[in-house]
Amino acid sequence: MIFAVILAGGTGSRMGSTDMPKQFLEIKGKPILNHTVEKFLPNPKFEKIIVLSPKSWIGHTREIIRKFTGKNDRIAVIEGGSTRNETIMNAIRYIDREYGLDDDTVIVTHDSVRPFVTHRIIEENIKTALNCGACDTVIPATDTIVEGDGTAITNIPDRRKMYQGQTPQSFKAKLLRDTYESLSDEEKDILTDAAKILVMKGKEVRLVQGETFNIKITYPYDLKIARSLLDTDS
Ligand code: CTP
Repeated sequence: MIFAVILAGGTGSRMGSTDMPKQFLEIKGKPILNHTVEKFLPNPKFEKIIVLSPKSWIGHTREIIRKFTGKNDRIAVIEGGSTRNETIMNAIRYIDREYGLDDDTVIVTHDSVRPFVTHRIIEENIKTALNCGACDTVIPATDTIVEGDGTAITNIPDRRKMYQGQTPQSFKAKLLRDTYESLSDEEKDILTDAAKILVMKGKEVRLVQGETFNIKITYPYDLKIARSLLDTDS
């Protein structure tokens, strides 16, 4: 079985002072979260679309899904976790409880604040996770990436080997959970994303080609870009 896991459990602190987490802000009269969910809903391969939201926003999340996307038994709204990876683990626990996990259970995890994901990216994620166990959506780095210690450059890696990570990131759910559980607390502390769980343990994560417009809405500036992208979308 294949599940979409829409990560909406964050508070969006870098967006500054808004009266709600950024995933609930509207673009063209509709919350960002709904734009994102609607990219997954038409794909019949998903058994369920699991939306993870902060505990105090679960009621609101259910309400906006009913209002903008319609009542739909394929969408489940559950509580997120204290970190992004804990949010993913909550989704895996839910799947285990409701359906049971087998070796081919696949999760396509996606930031709720990346509403421009495409059907092609989702399909390639599903195919690659089923065939290879894990994949990450990336685009080639356009800027030179510089490593530094805060004061000076320590290294300039070969740009041809540098990519910018996006989402979806997709995994065989059991593989991800078992590897995550094998990490020490110190290892969990330095995780930045879910792909790193596997990379830290030497497991292969394949690359899927993203799109430059598959942006993550992080700062107020990104919200402006997203609004203008949607204006030119139609
Ligand atoms: N996320 C989540 N659970 C968490 C933290 C983050 O599901 N405990 C989700 C966010 O809701 C977001 C995605 O992960 O859709 C990407 O994370 P990021 O952009 O860093 O979101 P926030 O953590 O909300 O933002 P900030 O770091 O600015 O507080």
